[in-house]
Amino acid sequence: MKPIESLVRDNIKNLKPCPHGAEVYGAATESGLKPQEILDFSSSVNPLGPSKKALDAAKEAFSTVAAYPDSNSNLLRQVIASHFSGITKDNIVVGNGSTELMYLFAEAFLKKGDKALMAAPTFGEYESAVRKTGEAPKFVRLGSSFQVEAEAFKREMAGCKMVFLCNPNNPTSKLIPKDTLTDILETALAQDVLVFLDEDFLEFVDDEKGLTQIKNIAKFPNLLVLRSFTKIFGLTGLRVGYGITSKELASVLLCAKIPWNVNCLAQAAAVAAIQDQEHLRVTRELIRKEKVWLQQELGAVKGFSFEPPDANFFFIDIKDANITANNLKHKMLQQGILIRDCSSFVGLNEFYIRVAVKTHDENVRLIEAFKRALKSV
Ligand SMILES: Cc1ncc(COP(=O)(O)O)c(C=O)c1O
Repeated sequence: MKPIESLVRDNIKNLKPCPHGAEVYGAATESGLKPQEILDFSSSVNPLGPSKKALDAAKEAFSTVAAYPDSNSNLLRQVIASHFSGITKDNIVVGNGSTELMYLFAEAFLKKGDKALMAAPTFGEYESAVRKTGEAPKFVRLGSSFQVEAEAFKREMAGCKMVFLCNPNNPTSKLIPKDTLTDILETALAQDVLVFLDEDFLEFVDDEKGLTQIKNIAKFPNLLVLRSFTKIFGLTGLRVGYGITSKELASVLLCAKIPWNVNCLAQAAAVAAIQDQEHLRVTRELIRKEKVWLQQELGAVKGFSFEPPDANFFFIDIKDANITANNLKHKMLQQGILIRDCSSFVGLNEFYIRVAVKTHDENVRLIEAFKRALKSV
């Protein structure tokens, strides 16, 4: 038998896993703590967890685990469609987490030699999804204050097959200015460029309804808007996300996806979660209040600087604190707190961290731990 390595396709052989926050299992091994003892500020999800109604629905769905789940998540697609106006379930594709849809989108549309454009820094799985197809991503650096700049982006977009955009962006916590986004979408349409617009964090933004591009999918048949049950709905471990797009594009993805990609517990929980508007209201209120508190407290930490966040996480430049993100991460972990060292993001150096907005008591612990960690620097 030949070495297995010699049999692997080149694009797979060269893949490297994309680093992420929420590495609580690795952090537990390093710190000697149990995973549940670690306070995780590295993943930006609902600090209250999922709605009780969603958990009850998942429990009830246990009675159905002996059967295959609905392969195309029809009920969930129906419920999502009725949650928004102007779309039907035929505009929707559901994925095993929204990450599955990034890979599916790249796999379905990237042909040999096609280029896919994305910002630097942004969420790392867009790059991995493109590399897995055997094609190379093209990066455009964000401008001052880590904003997408329309002219630079459009210049680089010329000749590309697709672009990935994240609004608000991870890790910068910044919205793409409205006019910039419209300008890019219109140019992309005129140039036959597909747009994958990740709105996974938009539900944490006050003017979500005014800013979402879901209402514009009829105008932009080249657009897919991504949403997730991981973030504000807190169904992180169940893995459910969805794309809203033109019927033509949705039907391509529905055919290309693997069968039974979303399990029965996840489908049932998501159906209940999206209908529990009260849980979302309480979550938004908490995040709004705690963002104000954290902005003041983090702003008072010597050496930290940041822009006001648009999403539910802070992106902090720690250069003036005279410590690298990696060292600060270890000092925080010694106190049972996990933060995101952002140095793995394309376009960032070793002096950026990201922290989520959590409950008040947890945020107090974060600030106290930062102060202790930096005292010894
Ligand atoms: C911007 C962004 N999109 C998508 C994802 C992945 O979401 P999901 O859990 O739905 O796969 C993440 C995870 O961190 C993210 O930051």
